[in-house]
Amino acid sequence: MTQQQTWSQRFELALHPAIARFNASISFDIELIEYDLTGSVAHAQMLTKCGIISPEEGEQLVAGLEQIRQEYRQGKFNPGMEAEDVHFAVEHRLVEIIGDVGKKLHTGRSRNDQVGTDTRLYLRDQIQQIRQQLREFQSVLLDIADNHVETLIPGYTHLQRAQPLSLAHHLLAYFQMAQRDWERLGDVWKRVNISPLGCGALAGTTFPIDRHYTAQLLDFDSVYANSLDGVSDRDFAIEFLCAASLIMVHLSRLSEEIILWASEEFGFVTLKDSCATGSSIMPQKKNPDVPELVRGKTGRVFGHLQALLVIMKGLPLAYNKDLQEDKEALFDSVKTVKACLEAMTILLREGLEFRTQRLAQAVCEDFSNATDVADYLAARGVPFREAYNLVGKVVKTSIAAGKLLKDLTLEEWKQLHPAFAADIYEAISPRQVVAARNSYGGTGFEQVRIALSHARTQIEINSPTK
Ligand code: ARG
Repeated sequence: MTQQQTWSQRFELALHPAIARFNASISFDIELIEYDLTGSVAHAQMLTKCGIISPEEGEQLVAGLEQIRQEYRQGKFNPGMEAEDVHFAVEHRLVEIIGDVGKKLHTGRSRNDQVGTDTRLYLRDQIQQIRQQLREFQSVLLDIADNHVETLIPGYTHLQRAQPLSLAHHLLAYFQMAQRDWERLGDVWKRVNISPLGCGALAGTTFPIDRHYTAQLLDFDSVYANSLDGVSDRDFAIEFLCAASLIMVHLSRLSEEIILWASEEFGFVTLKDSCATGSSIMPQKKNPDVPELVRGKTGRVFGHLQALLVIMKGLPLAYNKDLQEDKEALFDSVKTVKACLEAMTILLREGLEFRTQRLAQAVCEDFSNATDVADYLAARGVPFREAYNLVGKVVKTSIAAGKLLKDLTLEEWKQLHPAFAADIYEAISPRQVVAARNSYGGTGFEQVRIALSHARTQIEINSPTK
């Protein structure tokens, strides 16, 4: 098919087919079609209201645009390469349907403010969907945490056993990350929800348009104050990609922990068959593909963020075709984040079982109660640093003797320091070690129960809109 002549009569020759392909964005920006139609309907209504076109013409435009929406939804509108992009595709089809009046739609508008409008409408929708998914992810974390307030799990620093934790406390850390993600997206929303429509190609328009009216029709909070900025700003997209990258950071950290936990070496969780895969050669294998894929897909989103930063760097005002490259970065990031959130939520909800017996055993087999011995002495008047050194010594001799702290006799404790009494055994039992950390935000069971109920109200009172 030959290239349709959309540009002015200034062009005599058709575009080279390879260049037409190179230039075209229709293969991916078709994703914006519903938003493009919505934006165009608002533009047509504004042209009518401002007396730039007649009410009959306005009605024809809107009816034609809505027909295209129906055709698209029914799978009957599939523009090809010759359309170049979604905006031309819609305009051509509109003229086919309603005739010459369709050519009036583009009055007082450019594809530059149009594509900016579409992208913002798209992102606005996606942000709401992702926030909703974050809520589901958070609520599954809370469900699991509810059941595991008193399940103990080794806590690590430097991936070395540090102090035991309530498993609920560990999971609530991810809840908090997701909470910040949810809030951050709400913040990004504020800069997404500004209308560039009516900025024209770069300088505004000679027509008496009403930008505030289209903004209102499209539910934007405000309009860009400067037309050059309006058509060339992609800060909002970069901000979204930053927020998306942080979601992926959080999901991949959780993924990494699940992968470790599922290993023979840790043995803290069992993967259920519905969320794990086998090996084609090693019959004993059950692989944590879901968290591995999430961890792996994180790279794509970081890459897209980097790509858009580089696209924008050094770009002169105002619109440049470089900006067409923002779309695949955004679309792929949105799809990736949504797919990862969905998969992780399912994995947590039904694909993972904590091996509570193994966990109970794990917290008993190390020196992660050593701090509590030092705290015991410090609470009885021994300066903490002195107590710390004393316990360091006893850890060393115990390791040499193949013992744990709980194996020391009362005699041995008393020899070490006269302040030790029979209650030292209770003080260093893993359950007590956890329970005792009752400082605000700590892992003590009482604090964890408070944190859980705060978390529940947090996800209930915040509605997923604006
Ligand atoms: N397909 C283009 C994009 O995605 C639409 C805007 C084209 N504007 C232009 N002046 N060529 O950015």
